[in-house]
Amino acid sequence: MSILKVNHVKKIYTTRFGKQRVNALEDVTFSVEKGEYVAIMGESGSGKTTLLNILAALDKATSGQVLLNGMDLSTIREKEIAAFRRENLGFVFQDFNLLDTFSLQDNIFLPLVLAGVKYDEMQKRLFPIARKLEIGNILSKYPYEVSGGQKQRTAVARALITNPKLILADEPTGALDSRSSDQLLGLFSDINAEGQTILMVTHSTKAASHAGRVLFIKDGQVYHQIYRGNLTNEELYQKISDTLTMIATGGGRYE
Ligand SMILES: Nc1ncnc2c1ncn2[C@@H]1O[C@H](COP(=O)(O)OP(=O)(O)OP(=O)(O)O)[C@@H](O)[C@H]1O
Ligand SMILES: [Mg+2]
Repeated sequence: MSILKVNHVKKIYTTRFGKQRVNALEDVTFSVEKGEYVAIMGESGSGKTTLLNILAALDKATSGQVLLNGMDLSTIREKEIAAFRRENLGFVFQDFNLLDTFSLQDNIFLPLVLAGVKYDEMQKRLFPIARKLEIGNILSKYPYEVSGGQKQRTAVARALITNPKLILADEPTGALDSRSSDQLLGLFSDINAEGQTILMVTHSTKAASHAGRVLFIKDGQVYHQIYRGNLTNEELYQKISDTLTMIATGGGRYE
């Protein structure tokens, strides 16, 4: 079953005073099946964040359609969007987006507090997630008291605690050193193996080599895609590198 369907999405930004138009997305079509782990790659400015913002209903497509779990995002009423997002999506941002005046635990609880979940239930959900993420013993600390990797794992816990249908991640390893980045990628692989659907935007070939499928965006379209098949991470890494080179030199359009 497709959890996400993106049909011919186009996004044109008009700058102030309408002087300039930027075609950020020309015609993007793809779908994500339940349980998939998909990476999206593309050069800076190719429209990756634009696409994620549209999928997250933080921005609207100029034309085209996005179906999340069968629901057309454009039909959700403005005042229901926040609840829809909370119930269906988990976000992991490059810069963590934790609140400095909240402890790690309260940061993780935030989406549940907003959803009106009882404290006992929040605690019950937190325990296994905190254990898996190895942050159980630092939950009472504040974001400025912990490392970048610990902050990012807290952000992942906050994304997971609502049992989202889909996790959207924008450069989740972007601000991490290689050890923390490996840990985060291992974690994404684990939660994906347990059935969590993940869509991750990344510049990192290493990060993308953990996914089951890699989409390449260029010229506002899905220009190419590769499936892992039976490849190991190392083999997929090589294939992604080759594909990036091929795309940079103008070859390899699929379809
Ligand atoms: N609010 C905006 N108004 C006008 N143009 C914008 C706006 N946001 C993005 N753009 C333009 O749209 C294009 C796509 O930007 P986007 O941020 O989606 O790229 P990206 O692939 O995420 O890049 P990066 O890898 O650098 O994060 C760029 O040309 C950018 O300058
Ligand atoms: Mg971006």
